[in-house]
Amino acid sequence: MFQERVKVLWNTLECSGYYRIGMQSNPGYSRAKPGQFVMVRFPDEVTPLLRRPFSIHRLILHQGRTAGIELLYKVVGTGTEKLSLSRKGDGLDLLGPLGTHFKIPENTRRVFIVAGGIGVAPMFFLSATLEKAGVDLTESRIFIGGRSRDDLLCMNDFISVGMRTVHLTTEDGSAGLRDLVTTPLERAVAERAPDRIYACGPLPMIRAVAKIARRYRAPCQVSIESLMACGLGACLGCAVEGADPGKYLHACIDGPVFEADRLNL
Ligand SMILES: Cc1cc2nc3c(=O)[nH]c(=O)nc-3n(C[C@H](O)[C@H](O)[C@H](O)COP(=O)(O)OP(=O)(O)OC[C@H]3O[C@@H](n4cnc5c(N)ncnc54)[C@H](O)[C@@H]3O)c2cc1C
Ligand code: FES
Repeated sequence: MFQERVKVLWNTLECSGYYRIGMQSNPGYSRAKPGQFVMVRFPDEVTPLLRRPFSIHRLILHQGRTAGIELLYKVVGTGTEKLSLSRKGDGLDLLGPLGTHFKIPENTRRVFIVAGGIGVAPMFFLSATLEKAGVDLTESRIFIGGRSRDDLLCMNDFISVGMRTVHLTTEDGSAGLRDLVTTPLERAVAERAPDRIYACGPLPMIRAVAKIARRYRAPCQVSIESLMACGLGACLGCAVEGADPGKYLHACIDGPVFEADRLNL
């Protein structure tokens, strides 16, 4: 884990309300894994006081070495609004990489990835890593859901790493199927269950995905984006209920990625 002052390399508008920010980072991020996150703060500023957590969207490579990381983020409040105003050369305080990551057991050949809204952020890093681990992306599928067409991100990025089947859903029907992302997921799992399901998105979606995985006995890992204050296991701000009644886990150090059956979903 590194705590460092880093420089912004770029901060570009992806589409309405969503940005990509590239920043320099310690070369040790070459060991970062998909699903891990960083905590970002504005140096020497009081507002917002607390660091904000973001998944690593992509490692930035320069001459074959890790030179930085890219985050994909949605503006929802004070911290992300302020982040959207950062310019090339500005300084940020970066802490990471933190937390658990998506596991790719040996002999994993065919997977389904489910992303709801900004839950797509860690999934590009995951797809690129799956491809290197020998997973057949042409046989795998990604299911991307959002409220409307502006919430469907990164489709072409997934295709560029070899993913052939991309299912799109929106709640308002402005793109893809007018439905919840779990509808085409369940249809596809019922047809032929994958070796593993990976999911990241809002809690109701995570619950529905976990239920489908249980029903069809497909191993499933989920990333939980709960509120976080310290990101280090010190404040108890990120408690999630474990599968054992009354047992709570920290999303920041026991997660954010969990085997779905470890949680009370
Ligand atoms: C492990 C992890 C990884 C994350 N990865 C990403 C990412 O890659 N890209 C991204 O855009 N966001 C990500 N998030 C969510 C992101 O941290 C929050 O959106 C951000 O902290 C909001 O800060 P803010 O100051 O703009 O909003 P605030 O002013 O703090 O809050 C604005 C509103 O957003 C809600 N909110 C704040 N945090 C969350 C959250 N975690 N989940 C749901 N609602 C929230 C608040 O309740 C409030 O209603 C991640 C969260 C976690 C825990
Ligand atoms: S965010 Fe402080 S304990 Fe997890």
